[in-house]
Amino acid sequence: MNIVLLGAPGAGKGTHSEMLVRDFGLKHISTGDLLRAELKKASPVGLEAKSYMDKGSLVPDAVVMKLLVGAIAGIKHGNGFLLDGFPRNESQAGMLEEELASRNMNIDRVLYLNVSKDVVIKRLTGRRICKSCGAVYHVFNMPPKREGVCDKCGGDLYQRPDDTEETVLRRLEVYRKETEGLINYYKTRKILAEVNADLSRDNTYGLILQKLGKK
Ligand code: AP5
Repeated sequence: MNIVLLGAPGAGKGTHSEMLVRDFGLKHISTGDLLRAELKKASPVGLEAKSYMDKGSLVPDAVVMKLLVGAIAGIKHGNGFLLDGFPRNESQAGMLEEELASRNMNIDRVLYLNVSKDVVIKRLTGRRICKSCGAVYHVFNMPPKREGVCDKCGGDLYQRPDDTEETVLRRLEVYRKETEGLINYYKTRKILAEVNADLSRDNTYGLILQKLGKK
């Protein structure tokens, strides 16, 4: 089962990726995480990506594609993969199709997590992430037991620099202009399934399982 999770910033792509990986053993490929890992290493790719990410703009296709191809090359034919945050425009979608075809692979399902703007702003401005293990919290929806401290490993929690309200609004605008067109792109290929992502985590996940024929 090869899946793409499509949706605005804050739709819950990372959250539901974690649940799908837990339940189905899929390989999770998040281009946002790959870029942040490069940034942490201060590699040339990471440094180039930083200026775009800080502004909430898309990183150039060529940079992201290089990371994605590396991640796809590491996939062993098995349970399948889950793409989170890729593709983000039609050009990336075309390159993905070509790359997968060259490896006799394809996408089975695109899950479109449909979320409203107000929900996104609340979710992203309240998101906190563990510096050590990457666990994700929310100051209201999923607070840690001790403020600022990760329940899982005791690490410090931080706010992503692109999760300020100003940058979230910019990211939503970029999503509307560049990524939203992919909904029709995958609808015409008859592999799109839409899910109401305004609901609670568990209710949204229930709908995802239904769309995947797993419930
Ligand atoms: P990326 O890291 O991919 O960010 P994003 O797409 O903006 O998505 P987010 O990670 O913000 O949100 P999410 O949908 O994963 O939500 P989450 O589950 O964490 O990209 C960052 C940047 O990298 C981009 O702006 C761009 O610059 C660059 N980039 C990445 N990929 C690229 C590409 N392909 N091309 C070019 N540039 C690229 O949830 C958010 C919060 O809400 C959490 O606190 C969570 O606990 C909570 N939550 C989630 N679901 C629910 C729910 N149902 N109910 C209650 N709370 C919930």
